[in-house]
Amino acid sequence: MRVLFVCLGNICRSPTAEGVMRHLVAADEAAGRWVLDSAGTADYHVGKPPDSRSQRAARRRGIDLSGLRARQICAEDFMRFDLILAMDDNNLLDLRRRRPAAATATMHLFMDFAPEVGVREVPDPYYGDEEGFESVLDLCMAAGRGLLQTARRH
Ligand code: 4NP
Repeated sequence: MRVLFVCLGNICRSPTAEGVMRHLVAADEAAGRWVLDSAGTADYHVGKPPDSRSQRAARRRGIDLSGLRARQICAEDFMRFDLILAMDDNNLLDLRRRRPAAATATMHLFMDFAPEVGVREVPDPYYGDEEGFESVLDLCMAAGRGLLQTARRH
């Protein structure tokens, strides 16, 4: 299962989603079959570690994001991954526009894997307060668990 998480900057939501998913699959017997990565649709923050507020929120839950570095999505990603999971509708629109003809990946909103939460998007926390970053962790944990359950059924 090769999964790429995508947001705008790749410094808040998608690295959090990647870190949460790494944390969840580490406890799974099929951990070795997962390939996980994240990328941004924009190039503003390429090469930077996750936002310190995201790192703090993740660390409070025992998840270390410090080793991740931002990158921008590229055409090959659409062939390299099975699933590309967007954090919000803008990300998904952007992905659809960039999708090359040879793309093999399936694209969804990440929150599609947690329909019980009743939230469609992982909101951008960048210009908000600490609470927004906590909420990103909550949403990513819920969707990550849903993704793991879906994968176990396949
Ligand atoms: P992300 O958050 O897409 O979750 O990484 C953002 C990071 C940076 C910016 C916007 C959103 N920015 O405008 O620089």
